[in-house]
Amino acid sequence: MTTDVLRIENLSVEFPTERGWTQVVDDVSLRVPAGSAVGLVGESGSGKTVTSLAAMGLLPPRGSRVSGSIRIAGRETVGLSEREMSDIRGTDVSMVFQEPRRSLSPAFTVGDQIAEVVRRHEGASKKSSVARAIEMLDAVGIPDAARRSQAYPHEFSGGMCQRVMLAIAMVCRPKLLIADEPTTALDVTVQREMLRLMKDLQAEYDVSILFITHDLGVVAEMCDSVAVMYAGQIVESTRIDDLFDDPRHPYSEGLLAAIPDPRARGTRLSSIPGAVPAPWDWPETCRFQERCRHAVAGVCDAGPVGLERLAAGRAVRCVRDGELELRGLGA
Ligand SMILES: Nc1ncnc2c1ncn2[C@@H]1O[C@H](COP(=O)(O)OP(=O)(O)OP(=O)(O)O)[C@@H](O)[C@H]1O
Ligand SMILES: [Mg+2]
Repeated sequence: MTTDVLRIENLSVEFPTERGWTQVVDDVSLRVPAGSAVGLVGESGSGKTVTSLAAMGLLPPRGSRVSGSIRIAGRETVGLSEREMSDIRGTDVSMVFQEPRRSLSPAFTVGDQIAEVVRRHEGASKKSSVARAIEMLDAVGIPDAARRSQAYPHEFSGGMCQRVMLAIAMVCRPKLLIADEPTTALDVTVQREMLRLMKDLQAEYDVSILFITHDLGVVAEMCDSVAVMYAGQIVESTRIDDLFDDPRHPYSEGLLAAIPDPRARGTRLSSIPGAVPAPWDWPETCRFQERCRHAVAGVCDAGPVGLERLAAGRAVRCVRDGELELRGLGA
């Protein structure tokens, strides 16, 4: 039996807003089996980052309400104190963010910032933690790592800062790496290099990955399975090949059609009209229906739509599932 390094069950998150407590993540369940890479995709505002911050225990305790279960390497983390959670962060689960520069301190050398993580989590000596930092900088492909470890973040390019972030995340060999749009801010070539590096690290360090992105093309390259999120809910989850060949949710179909065409860089084949509504405007019924080309009045707006488990480890949230011929990218 494969164990799950991450198992989220029935996660809901609410925030206080000017309209009162508002739910932004609604009954999300998600698993990352050991050794796998799972993609979490969806447009801006669908709740991907909030889900991952919940998994990291990084939501403000008084500024949010979290319910459900989040198990990391078998251990329940919902309800742990900040102190207990900070032991788990770094050693069991780490995260890299979209904007590496904002997460690095401008006042310390990159080597010090990596070494500090080793000292904090493993109580290593100054000398051995510095050696580990240099080793890790080398592993993430920073040339001349010993010398560069003494440089400050402003002396690094964006792509190099992202590598430093990855070094910080990986230095204590976590079981799970959560990568939240780690390549979005990078140019195409640097993005490719980062993806390859993460693949290499996954194999070498035996780390499982939750890869968050709005780009299904990236998911196809990196991931074994995928969960598609829309307006705070999982609308489809499946193996990556099945999603591409035979999407079952109209939103997945729309995302597939929006994958940038590599032959015509920067252009999109099509995009889904409209945008994810604000959380306080999410309807009780299917949340995607307003933008869905397959929506039928009286059917899709008739009531809440549950996530149906299908055979072969698939799940889909669509009342019209089974009636629709959706377009995948298969032959
Ligand atoms: N601290 C907060 N207080 C109130 N609302 C919040 C807070 N953090 C996030 N939200 C709201 O929760 C929703 C989901 O946000 P989230 O950042 O998870 O989206 P996302 O899927 O990561 O989008 P993106 O692709 O833009 O990163 C959004 O409507 C956002 O405005
Ligand atoms: Mg986000």
